[in-house]
Amino acid sequence: MTVESPKEAPVKFPSPLVRELRGARHVAVLTGAGISAESGIPTFRDAMTGLWAKFRPEDLATPEAFRRDPRRVWEWYEWRRELVARARPNPGHLALVELARRVPRMDLFTQNVDGLHQRAGSRDVLELHGNITRDRCFDNDHPADPGSRSEETPPRCRRCGSFMRPDVVWFGERLPERELEAAWESAARCDLFLSVGTSGAVQPVASLVDLARHGGATVVIVNPDASVFSARDRIVLQGPSGRILPALLAETWPERRSSP
Ligand code: APR
Repeated sequence: MTVESPKEAPVKFPSPLVRELRGARHVAVLTGAGISAESGIPTFRDAMTGLWAKFRPEDLATPEAFRRDPRRVWEWYEWRRELVARARPNPGHLALVELARRVPRMDLFTQNVDGLHQRAGSRDVLELHGNITRDRCFDNDHPADPGSRSEETPPRCRRCGSFMRPDVVWFGERLPERELEAAWESAARCDLFLSVGTSGAVQPVASLVDLARHGGATVVIVNPDASVFSARDRIVLQGPSGRILPALLAETWPERRSSP
């Protein structure tokens, strides 16, 4: 089922969905680049603009690219870090903070590396692709000493001398095991699975939606582009998450407006 929400019109949700969300005991949420779009953070592909337009993400976000030209890769990440530092969480991030307060259990998994969920106030965020604000060293994964980067570009690890790199998952690298296992477990057991702002193109994370569906969960997709998912066995809420998520919460818990 696809629920369209023309711009400016109030969003109306199917009442079975509102009832299910209100009664849900365990909600699993997976977010992707789209939830940060309204904070002005370009999605991965949109980030290849200006100086970086001549590169493909695959030419910058791989271990091979870093080995070939560590300075170029480091500078691209420095540019993206500046965008992230200037960005602010948007109503979509904030709605998920509130959702966690409304349901007995909510697990939040993100493919984003921008840390905006945490800055909005979400706790225990499981970062499947790492975090761009952290560094670790290329050879041994030593974490950076906070606030004391060496002068070189990229800086060097104080412990082993190898280059520092952003603590993110690059193409061809494995996802962190603990986070991935927690995501499988959560998707398989939840009673409502909410996928927000992700194209579902990147495995193995994309399979979480199917896992949730096979486990009997109601699957809800929030995306302005309804074509990325087939509407079969899912509820597609078509629109930007900064608008859809606050509206969904307002309709599910109307009394919250009057609560202190
Ligand atoms: N609200 C919700 N969704 C949105 C919004 C919005 N305001 N704006 C765009 N979107 C949707 C797009 O329609 C698209 O389906 O967000 C999705 C973003 O897709 P991707 O750029 O593929 O991001 P994501 O799914 O997070 O990609 C996963 O792939 O490129 C790698 O490592 C990168 O973490 C990234 C991963």
